[in-house]
Amino acid sequence: MKFSTRNCTAIITGASSGLGAEFARQLARDAQVLILVARRLDAMESVKAELLSLKADLKVELVVADLSTDAGRAALVSWVDHATVKPNLLINNAGLGDYGSFASASEDRLKRQIDVNVSALVLLSRALLPVLMQTAPAGILNVSSLASTLPMPDLAVYAASKSFVSSFSEALAIELEPHQIQVTYVCPGPTPTNFSKTAKRDDGTDTNRDGQGLLRIPASQVIAESLAALNSGKTCLFPGLGVSIAAPIFWHMPRSLLRWVLRRRHSQSKL
Ligand SMILES: NC(=O)c1ccc[n+]([C@@H]2O[C@H](COP(=O)([O-])OP(=O)(O)OC[C@H]3O[C@@H](n4cnc5c(N)ncnc54)[C@H](OP(=O)(O)O)[C@@H]3O)[C@@H](O)[C@H]2O)c1
Repeated sequence: MKFSTRNCTAIITGASSGLGAEFARQLARDAQVLILVARRLDAMESVKAELLSLKADLKVELVVADLSTDAGRAALVSWVDHATVKPNLLINNAGLGDYGSFASASEDRLKRQIDVNVSALVLLSRALLPVLMQTAPAGILNVSSLASTLPMPDLAVYAASKSFVSSFSEALAIELEPHQIQVTYVCPGPTPTNFSKTAKRDDGTDTNRDGQGLLRIPASQVIAESLAALNSGKTCLFPGLGVSIAAPIFWHMPRSLLRWVLRRRHSQSKL
């Protein structure tokens, strides 16, 4: 039997804004229960009010958890253990970046990126796997990034963390197929959300945005394509025309040429 979001019970991490909130809006039509997870309760309450205005009989649960910590992840897992409804979809969407050089990065922001983008995604997938196996056909949707396809100076740890997500998801898709768990990962390009605001440092350091206009699409399109990919059993998605063209170019470009392009872009952004 194939996984479908119809009548699903979904956990969405990072559902207080951006892509996570949009996942919730677009799943509201099909889902029975949405379990929103993030640190900011007030922002999730606003999303919940919006969801209930779209569908009054939707069940929306809010779980406040800092997924960068063992305690926060354990709180979510314990919530699921004690809940009467069990999820059959896990959307690992929470994530953050940090614009600027590695040399000037704060240890705290480096660690938080790895804790949320990598550790939370892996450990929640593992901890919730028994439940997903029970409720199969089930799904895991991991939010990676176009940044997973190439090294990014001044966004080095973020891009590497998303490379991890893509590689991990490819392997998991094969391992979990016999258990009727569909694993899909999506690699969006630049998308207007709160991502940039969070990624900017206190000194105002920004990222190099040259060429981003060709890749940018609205969050609504990223999520519509992502859910379509999940429902059609696709493993990997590069949403939008620009991103779907850019990704194979980055992949197939000789490493020496890619290094030359990246070095040039990096030195120009310092002028
Ligand atoms: N926007 C882009 O250009 C873009 C492109 C490619 C990939 N992505 C990926 O898309 C995903 C969603 O990001 P977004 O663009 O929607 O950015 P966003 O608007 O900043 O949303 C990030 C979400 O992650 C949550 N989050 C961050 N740290 C957390 C923590 N420690 N514990 C629990 N939740 C946490 C935030 O909630 P709280 O602050 O309430 O905790 C928020 O809901 C990320 O994985 C990002 O890497 C974004």
